[in-house]
Amino acid sequence: MDIKKIGILGAGTMGAGIAQVCVEAGFKVMLVEIEEGILKGALSKISKAWQKSLEKGKIDDATKTSREALLESSGELSSFKDCDLVIEAIVEEISVKKKVFKAMDEICPDHTILASNTSALSITEIAASTSRTDRVAGMHFFNPVPVMKLVEVIPGSDTSESTIEAVVNLTKGIGKEPVVAKETPGFIVNRILNPLVNEAALAYQEGVASAEEIDKAMKLGAGLPMGPLALADMVGLDIVLHVTETFFKEFGEPKYRPALVLRQKVRAGHLGVKTGKGFYDYAK
Ligand code: 3HC
Repeated sequence: MDIKKIGILGAGTMGAGIAQVCVEAGFKVMLVEIEEGILKGALSKISKAWQKSLEKGKIDDATKTSREALLESSGELSSFKDCDLVIEAIVEEISVKKKVFKAMDEICPDHTILASNTSALSITEIAASTSRTDRVAGMHFFNPVPVMKLVEVIPGSDTSESTIEAVVNLTKGIGKEPVVAKETPGFIVNRILNPLVNEAALAYQEGVASAEEIDKAMKLGAGLPMGPLALADMVGLDIVLHVTETFFKEFGEPKYRPALVLRQKVRAGHLGVKTGKGFYDYAK
């Protein structure tokens, strides 16, 4: 399948990163976000990243200009009408995802593949809200998207082989490495990484050590690129909590019970880097 134009729904951390890497790979991108402030913030972040690359001599003026020309944005779902593939990266609420997939199914041409960047929700359930269950798949990116090489590709129960082939090829086309994983909660990476982060939160809550010490120990003693609590702050504590809650519900096992400290921080609005406070204080 010839993918020329990619739609991205949602201009939060993940959506902005996905839009950036797709443009950098030479694709036309339509970034759609209903909240104007979030869209402006994403466009400014992407523009700053390209400015930084220019200053570092990684790209020239012409490349920056051609990238800018490839990136369009809008506040309307109808702007996806000429996209060959749309990647949704909005809030992790199944009812909202189903609503937007139904709407995109009505707007997009027949051949368009609809993909979700969901961390832990069911692709089959999302696909069921459309009339193209064979052309819906999971395409799960990792934060920070411009740096992390992996994309997990997840077929739902009706996803066709040609859809998976197209998504795998596109993943390679944007310079990422695909790994196809079965539809199970958290797929591969979150299934294994999330319990580690939750365990770090439990250790913090029990007073085993401070956040700094827990992170230092895991970096120096387990060779992690960053400590699990700093990682949780970067990913967003709301996302970490949501993934952990999904595991607890879906697997039905106490080992996935979310640490209380995660709930408390989310209830207080301390979601990590994006709100200026989480396990660490970023406002300083
Ligand atoms: N956005 C864009 N680029 C970034 C970035 C960001 N947030 N953070 C770092 N970078 C870039 C830097 O600009 C730098 O690029 P350059 O070499 O071209 O100058 C490069 O990455 C290296 O950055 P630094 O030297 O500042 O920092 P590190 O070498 O410590 O790397 C890191 C930072 C890549 C974030 C590294 O610490 C890391 O790999 N951490 C683990 C990340 C991880 O596990 N992510 C997965 C989370 S789970 C997830 O996303 C799934 C979801 O469903 C929850």
